[in-house]
Amino acid sequence: MTVSSAPGKVYLLGEHAVVYGEPAVLCAIERRATVTATARDDDRIRVQARDLTIDGFSVEYGDGVVDETADIDVPHPLVEAAVGYVDGAIEQVREIVDDSTGFTITIESDIPLGAGLGSSAAVVVAAIDAATREMGVELAPEEIADRAYRVEHDVQDGQASRADTFCSAMGGTVRVEGVDCQTIEESPRLPLVIGYDGGAGDTGALVAGVRGLKDEYDFAADTVRAIGDAVRTGERALADENRQEFGRLMDFNHGLLSALGVSSRSLDAMVWAARDAGALGAKLTGAGGGGCIVALDPTPDTETALQYTPGCEEAFRAELDRDGVRVESE
Ligand code: MEV
Repeated sequence: MTVSSAPGKVYLLGEHAVVYGEPAVLCAIERRATVTATARDDDRIRVQARDLTIDGFSVEYGDGVVDETADIDVPHPLVEAAVGYVDGAIEQVREIVDDSTGFTITIESDIPLGAGLGSSAAVVVAAIDAATREMGVELAPEEIADRAYRVEHDVQDGQASRADTFCSAMGGTVRVEGVDCQTIEESPRLPLVIGYDGGAGDTGALVAGVRGLKDEYDFAADTVRAIGDAVRTGERALADENRQEFGRLMDFNHGLLSALGVSSRSLDAMVWAARDAGALGAKLTGAGGGGCIVALDPTPDTETALQYTPGCEEAFRAELDRDGVRVESE
């Protein structure tokens, strides 16, 4: 039995545009997905999930066929998504170890699902690490990031950037532009506050929506490029530790994402509650459509304001996690 964990993340700047080769800056946060992998005597895969902010579930499958008697007490799309990601992770492992050993995979996570905090990337990264170690192979975090990216790319119909998986595998603050993925060593700790509306967005549909707009209207393509410009300016503000300017760029980035149709009423309500409370900046994080916002505020005011904002289910401070994927026990 091998247990590995990997962190969730927030996009400080640049989601969606990163899919089209613009840069993005993300940081890993101290909320983790933990995956336990136990090799089996047969070639079947059993996936059990707990604490995915929903009731747990348990499914078993072989040859791509899900067991009809599976104990499923959550909506099927969530189960299908989780099975898709774990299936992809196991495929990667089988490619490396050249073996069709089955696994029992148990997922525990304190990252809300589909809420913009990188839950799926963290699950895939931790699953690849746990299952390869269970087979006696230790991969470098960069290789895990690359393989996890291939899984996300397949599950999201070829519309994924390397950002989420690289950030989860490496930890800390990262910059991703196309295939160029780097950790930002000198990055300051930012006073980040998260607001969560209890919902989730459909990443595939949201990414496809932006692509459609971008293909139809030149000004939407310009909006995507403008996000890239905001990120480049934000990188300089981050290096200068100019939080005021960085916050202003987060606000700007939210406006551009809104124009691309990926915000929502509850995300906007939380963003405005944070700004009214004096946050230096606030924006949605991740694919949008529902889920989380991230705000910059060294005072307790944004967290308090979010707790009283209708539509906000949970507000919490997010600490930068400098650890990426790590083994918890072998
Ligand atoms: C989703 O967390 C972030 C997006 O930019 C998609 C991606 O980068 O794969 C919307």
